[in-house]
Amino acid sequence: MLKDVTDRIKCFMNTMFHSNKKLVAPSILSADFSRLGEEVKAMEQAGADRLHIDVMDGHFVPNLTIGVPVIKSLKKITKLPLDVHLMVNEPESMISSFASVGADSITVHLESTKDTGKVLEQIRYTNVQAGLTLKPETPVEKLFPFLHQLDLVLIMTVEPGFGGQSLLPEAVAKISQVRKELDRQSLTVPIHVDGGVNDETLPLLSSADVLVSGHFIFKHQSYKEAISILKTQ
Ligand code: DX5
Ligand code: ZN
Repeated sequence: MLKDVTDRIKCFMNTMFHSNKKLVAPSILSADFSRLGEEVKAMEQAGADRLHIDVMDGHFVPNLTIGVPVIKSLKKITKLPLDVHLMVNEPESMISSFASVGADSITVHLESTKDTGKVLEQIRYTNVQAGLTLKPETPVEKLFPFLHQLDLVLIMTVEPGFGGQSLLPEAVAKISQVRKELDRQSLTVPIHVDGGVNDETLPLLSSADVLVSGHFIFKHQSYKEAISILKTQ
């Protein structure tokens, strides 16, 4: 009986959480890297809630981006939480480095490690929030055994590797599938959605809590307007 009431309260809290405005996390992959500090400051002033940082190793995905020294520099100039999205093979070898330079969350791919549970433990052990994500073709059920170990779930709606791609509509259903499973397990974990998020795809993403968006925000003439469009629709 008590459990039933507790579950209902948790469900109600989840509903309240969803009805709030969405948080927006610009993905700096689409920033002008020759002026990265200014770009980050501009995002802060434009109302960004968090920063999404795509780390790629040229192996797990066919692209190579930034790493620990850049995050260390960004940490000095912004108060925004830094969400590090690791698209690398064997992320376990890098967790302590990213934690030591101030990552606020580290998200790893299910497909990138042989022992997902252990990597998540490792992330939390460093006092960093743990996130888990998966490629669009990976079945969503593979996330379910790890939900209780997570501080965020990241649903990828494009193939990881590049900014500016079109959202894959078939990946969108995973957001509500994860939401349903979180409710079933009585867990409150924010769901981030990443890839092809813009003013046109926004109506598909009502079940997400945090919108990661690169191309749409950084290519918009007004960062502030772009962020407020994502927050208010
Ligand atoms: C893709 C990255 C995304 C990307 C999103 O591998 O994980 O974070 O930067 O960018 P847009 O919003 O341009 O699809
Ligand atoms: Zn990303």
